[in-house]
Amino acid sequence: MKNIIDVELKTRKVDFSQCKTDLLAVGLFSDAKVPDKLNREMDSKLDGAIGQLLKLGDFKGKEGTNAIVYGNDKIGARRVLLVGLGKKKKATLDTVRKAASNAAKKSVEMKVETISLALHRAFGGRFDLSAMGRAAAEGTYLGSYRYDEFVTESENGRLDCLKVEIIDSDSAKTRKLSKGLSSGLAIGKAQSYARTLANRPANVINPAKLAAAAKELARGLKRLGCTVFDEKELAAKGMGGVLAVGSGSQNKPRFIVLKYNPASRAASRQPTVALVGKAITFDSGGISIKPAEKMNEMKLDKTGGITVLATMKAVAELGLPVNVYGIIPSAENLPSGTSYRPGDIITTFSGKTVEVQNTDAEGRMILCDALSYAVRQNCGIIIDIATLTGSCRVALGKYMAGLMGNDERLIKQLQRAAKDSGEKVWPMPSGDEYAEEMKSKIADLKNTGSKWGGACTAAAFLRQFVGDAKWAHLDIAGTEMFDRGTEFAVAGSSGFGVRLLTTYLMNLAGKKT
Ligand code: BES
Ligand code: MN
Ligand code: ZN
Repeated sequence: MKNIIDVELKTRKVDFSQCKTDLLAVGLFSDAKVPDKLNREMDSKLDGAIGQLLKLGDFKGKEGTNAIVYGNDKIGARRVLLVGLGKKKKATLDTVRKAASNAAKKSVEMKVETISLALHRAFGGRFDLSAMGRAAAEGTYLGSYRYDEFVTESENGRLDCLKVEIIDSDSAKTRKLSKGLSSGLAIGKAQSYARTLANRPANVINPAKLAAAAKELARGLKRLGCTVFDEKELAAKGMGGVLAVGSGSQNKPRFIVLKYNPASRAASRQPTVALVGKAITFDSGGISIKPAEKMNEMKLDKTGGITVLATMKAVAELGLPVNVYGIIPSAENLPSGTSYRPGDIITTFSGKTVEVQNTDAEGRMILCDALSYAVRQNCGIIIDIATLTGSCRVALGKYMAGLMGNDERLIKQLQRAAKDSGEKVWPMPSGDEYAEEMKSKIADLKNTGSKWGGACTAAAFLRQFVGDAKWAHLDIAGTEMFDRGTEFAVAGSSGFGVRLLTTYLMNLAGKKT
């Protein structure tokens, strides 16, 4: 198995036209009347080659496009990559992130080893430089990422490592850029780690393997601890939900608990935050089996749990002053003679009983035990993340995650984090009407509601296991994967949620970049 492509990141103080590099990436807005100073300067050194390109209309600055101009020894760079930034008015920090991923993706395609980014230049003073450094760093991970560890025969091979430098001629500016670069690096690396784990199929990753990965991660990081409960411990604890879902598979369930203990004393003023993630390593639906078409995509049903694992990695690497639990219930949902069945009544960790109506509504069955566990650890804030319902995908499509919760402030903070991170969320209800649908006649709850509003009834089910904690729920069925490659990323796991949750915790800790 080969390694996933690596990224090296640094800043450098250098004059743009002198900068010796394989590729220099600069940004251009689609509605800029005159090219900015940098591009004018470059254009004149290149005898008007950029101007020609624009005049002929071969490049219009649309977001998601790019064009190459060759340096011909007239400037330090071998190639100049013009990256489209779209309309100037619409630009956000995500424009910087996407421009960097566009440049990085193109560079990996062309096997260009060293690239220099001057993308921030086009934005003038519009955004904080360290925030732009962070966004650019995150973008290079996003765009350079490939999942090819099992590809043994590739025609032209690919780079082992993309070397990226963010350049500016002013050392005060490179200092600011580099401040954001180090957090962008931690977040970008964590997101790529999440994408690789999520992309691995169910014959490679099962609950025990995921638990081993969590242990290994914790071993390598100071202040991060990891405890794993196996099926015997789950039985001793009475985690009936996790056990029921895992009962059909030879690959037994695991309950993974990560704890990050910050060095800073300031952390004790904050409530402990629990991140809870659904990790179904494969969801066949169980006895209520799914149709064959696209069932393979259900290897990604562990994404929420992996997002939590990767976020813990980023949090520990950034050394954030917040107490954080990462709680990951993991099982494989398969049909067999030992599976749980429709009609079964399960006693969950909370003591509440659940009538199973559909074994394919398994996410909530494992999450309810994990939420109760977070409550017992006295976590004042609980955020769960899960590929929970097809109905959320129907409602919101592939661009935003559903956001439910019981606390306005927490919801606002997550919306803020979504804006900052470029991982979008949309608020949805989960109140009493929906909870009413989840009542059973022969148990406390049932695991499905009516035909309508499935994302909301699922959230209303979860809500009943969080006690008095402030709680938010992210339904990422839809955002967990890119179903086709774009200019910004290849198809497969998106690693959605790593940037969002890390940003939420950074904001909570008062760490801007
Ligand atoms: N993992 C699925 C949800 C899902 C569907 C994620 C499509 C990504 C893409 C979940 O376990 C599931 O099967 N949910 C059921 C619930 C239903 C039986 C109440 C669903 O959404 O159909
Ligand atoms: Mn399911
Ligand atoms: Zn599922």
